[in-house]
Amino acid sequence: MTDTRITRLQGRRVWDSRGRPTVEADVALACGVTARAIAPAGASTGSGEALELRDGGTRFGGLDVTKALSSIREIASSLEGLDARDQAGIDTRLVALDGTANRSRLGGNAIVATSMAVLQAAAASAGEPLWRYLADGRPVRMPLPEVQIFGGGAHAARRVDVQDFMVMCPAAGSFSEALEWTAEIYLAAGALMKKAGKLQGVADEGGYWPAFDSNEQALDMLMRAIADAGLRAGEQVGISLDIAASEFGRDGRYVLALDGRSLDTGEMIAMLGGWLDAYPILSIEDPLAEDDQDGFRRFTAAHGGRCQIIGDDLLVTNAARVASSAAEGYTNAVLIKPNQAGTITETHAALAAGRQAGFGTIVSARSGETEDVTIAHLSVGWDAGQLKVGSFSRSERMAKWNEVLRIEESLGRDAVFSGWSALPFKHRGR
Ligand code: PGA
Ligand code: ZN
Repeated sequence: MTDTRITRLQGRRVWDSRGRPTVEADVALACGVTARAIAPAGASTGSGEALELRDGGTRFGGLDVTKALSSIREIASSLEGLDARDQAGIDTRLVALDGTANRSRLGGNAIVATSMAVLQAAAASAGEPLWRYLADGRPVRMPLPEVQIFGGGAHAARRVDVQDFMVMCPAAGSFSEALEWTAEIYLAAGALMKKAGKLQGVADEGGYWPAFDSNEQALDMLMRAIADAGLRAGEQVGISLDIAASEFGRDGRYVLALDGRSLDTGEMIAMLGGWLDAYPILSIEDPLAEDDQDGFRRFTAAHGGRCQIIGDDLLVTNAARVASSAAEGYTNAVLIKPNQAGTITETHAALAAGRQAGFGTIVSARSGETEDVTIAHLSVGWDAGQLKVGSFSRSERMAKWNEVLRIEESLGRDAVFSGWSALPFKHRGR
């Protein structure tokens, strides 16, 4: 019997895709297995997320993580000797040791890096790739990728209001074909931006910097890029938006900086409804601010039958919030980010609550990422159906897409692509 007791947990400071400090955790087991994981970091964070512990002060803009690394030293003495295969037991211990509702004592960054590293170690000790260890014999699908073409919002100095202009290719025959279509669209969009004199580099998640005069101009450019790629928008390719409305909405008012307009909830819903009529939008994330639950309810009642409506800041990967979203009709889908929840066990609970409700479930990266590919495995191993890791450039993004390609290849003819089945509404494409 392999001895999977934890013998060592060690933290170190590494750097993320924005050049900011973050926390890496190394775990060693008695059997000799070692594994590691790195905490990601958000920019447009929900107020209900697990708190990222940062030092404050002036060093690295106050973002250093020496306090979180001290937390890992404290966690280490409490985890040594525990069985790495008992993820639930270890995560319960982490939550109890922290003792706060929002993980503010030890830090969500220290906790999530530890929880993910323990999971990686357990899978490695079983001699299995992580996705297979998680699936534990259950059938899985390759996820439908949601890929950013233009970045905006908090990821591009608020150059446009909308944070993510993305594409989804549910009509592709496989995950790899969906990426091929996406690659053509990304290239075509770059060529269009260049021709229009709007190519100014890329935003935080690798999408083109949004040098647009309006949100609609970005949507029009996206439509042209899909056509230039030789693909049919609406039939083969759909648009997906993350409005990230908590960033510019509060107390029922939404201030669109680009348009110089201030909308109330009803006007915001009407504007987005107009976009749904005019463009083949399959998915909208955070259409309203996290404090506008009634707006969410109205939006989903009006459009949930024709569009995936995802709660990110609203639901913060919290199982109880997902259950109440289902009961109240706030959304029909949930974004799943391990560092919002804090631990792997809580992350899975949120996904399970979404599945129970018949929601779309989308495993997601953060805007601050690294070479860590744990979430690629979560999306497959938990059969989430969808994966969102940013754009089609920058290696912290490509590392995740490429990892799913390897998983797909390892399954050979047994690889099943989720495609339309991942979406929580009926579409004529099915
Ligand atoms: P964030 O962005 O990581 O900055 O929160 C991702 C998202 O909003 O989905
Ligand atoms: Zn979001």
